This record gives sequence, C-alpha cells and structure tokens, in this order.
Amino acid sequence: MTHQQETLLIVDDEAGIRRLLRQKLSGEGYQCKEASNSEQILNTLETDSIALVILDIRMPGRSGIELLPQIKSGYPDTSVIMATAVNEINTAVQCLKQGADDYICKPFNLEELSLAVKRALEKRHLLLEIREYQQYLEERIEEQTGQLRKLFLSAIEALVSALEAKDEYTGGHSRRVTDIALAIGNELGLSARDMENLRWGSLLHDIGKVAADPAIQNKPGKLTREEYEHIMTHVPVGVEIVRPLVNEQITQMIEHHHDHYNGGGLHQLIVGDDIPLGARILAIADAFDAMISDRPYRSAMSMTQIVEEIKRCAGTQFDPIVVAAFLNTVGLTNTEAQSPENGAPGTHL
Ligand SMILES: [Fe+2]
Repeated sequence: MTHQQETLLIVDDEAGIRRLLRQKLSGEGYQCKEASNSEQILNTLETDSIALVILDIRMPGRSGIELLPQIKSGYPDTSVIMATAVNEINTAVQCLKQGADDYICKPFNLEELSLAVKRALEKRHLLLEIREYQQYLEERIEEQTGQLRKLFLSAIEALVSALEAKDEYTGGHSRRVTDIALAIGNELGLSARDMENLRWGSLLHDIGKVAADPAIQNKPGKLTREEYEHIMTHVPVGVEIVRPLVNEQITQMIEHHHDHYNGGGLHQLIVGDDIPLGARILAIADAFDAMISDRPYRSAMSMTQIVEEIKRCAGTQFDPIVVAAFLNTVGLTNTEAQSPENGAPGTHL
C-alpha cells in the first residue's frame, strides 16, 4: 500500500527540526506542510486535507498535549504522532490514551520516524476502509429490509384476501378499511412511521376471524349476546397471531380496535385518549366500511345515514377529533352530509 500522495503536517517550534523532517518525508514522496504554533496548525487543518500530524509536545503557547484533544475531535480522520523528548515518555503514553496514534522520541531516528508514519497511515487507511464498508453494509441492510417488508406485506395481503374470499359480505373489507384509515391518518398529519403502522394494523385488524365460526359470522340476523361474544374473540386471537410478526404499536391497534371512546366497549380496559390513536382511527374506518357494505340482514346504508350515524357516535363510540378528520376526508364538514346520489363524496376511499 502506498501513501506517498498524502499530506503530512510537521509541527515544531524549531525551524531546523521541521526542515530535517520535511527533507526525510518529502524524499519518501509525501506532501509536507509545516506549522510552528497552534494557530498555524488549526488553519492548515481547516484548509488542507491532512492525513497525519507530527505534533511536538513542547511548544510555546498551547502545547501539543493541549491541542491533541481539539485535533482528534475536530478531525477524527487525521492521525497524530506525538514528538517527545526521551524524558517525557510518561506524557507520551498519556497522549496515546487521549487518541494519539504513536509517539517518536527526540533526537529523531529518521528511519524510526519513517516507519511510524507508514504504520500510522496504514492504520488510518484500514479504519477508513472499514468505515466505508460498514456504510455500504448498512445501506444494503436497509435496502434488503425494505424489500423484505414489501414481500411480507404482500404475503399478508394475500392471506387476508384469501380469508375474506370465504365470506361474500366481507370480501375486500380489510383493504377498504386500510384505504379509509390511511386517508384519516393523512388528514390528522401522522408521521410516515405512524402511517406505515396504521397500514399494517388496518390490514391485519380482523385476522383473528380466521378462528371464528363461519355460521355465526354469516348469520343473517342480529347476533345473540353469546354469538357476539364469540365473534369478538377475534380481537385476542388476532393479537396472538400478529404479536410475533409486528411491532407493539400495530399489536395495540388490533387489541383496541373495538374499544369505545367512552369506555363502553366489550371487556374494555382503557378509555378516551389512552386508546391508541391508530385504534381510534381504525374504529371509524371499520364502522364506515361495515355500514357502506351490504349485510345478510340489511342493505348498505346511504352516505347521509352513515355520516349521521358516525356524527351521532362522536364522543361515545368514536373520538370526536377523529370523527372530524373523517368528515374532512370524505369531503364533508360537521354541518353537511351528501348522499351518494347527490355526487358521491370520498371516491378516493
Ligand atoms: Fe374487528
């Protein structure tokens, strides 16, 4: 490995010593700069790309010992070799502990100096290469993690579609709920990360229905209390299914998606804003899609009826702030509601 094109900074308050070192190191092909005080050192480090500093410990004004921490913190990629008198070995060792790469003793043995410079530059090269490789690996890992996430999401979507395909009334439910929930999340200004969690939570919210009795699930009429309790087991079942696969925020979203804002839900443990925001969004998106779809026991409700129903439940079943965001999302304010026949709003849902 050759480092001869690299620039070294020789620091000593004695011009004769600087000249001696410069002659030796220039002769080996290095570019050499000189400095005799702290101001010159810092100026040169600022303006030139310095690979290595040979730093005299004893100088008038700020000593090499004082400058070393400043150089290492401001220019961590610059190697430092301390130049010291033989009786200052203890000080030199202290400098090594503070980040110096090596030390050489005065009077200089020029061959030892040359070797120390070569060694320090090789170590520096190695560290720079390792860091570059680490950055490359981190980028690759990030890229592959993204690809894996996409693959996983596609697999989950396929699984959810397969489950819903068994039921003619809920086919496409999770996909539609996801679209509505994301539109509400967008209206509420959620971060990219929260939006990603909301997407997963929405897609997976009813996955526990895989364990529900299809006869009860498709019953053409009002459910009894026992039947309702049975269907609602899809919440804890879903939580157990997804917990090993997704993060806590998504799990919580699924766990609380049937909670009522006022605490009136079945076996509910938390109330109001303690219910995760994603679950409060999901509750409205879920209800909206249920009402807009045909059911065995009723036809789809009109947009006017749905909006009135959701507004009626603001503050009881639903979080009023999320209701307001929902109404904005479908292009309605709190004081107006349109029926689909009068120009269907929310065609993006
Ligand atoms: Fe559900």
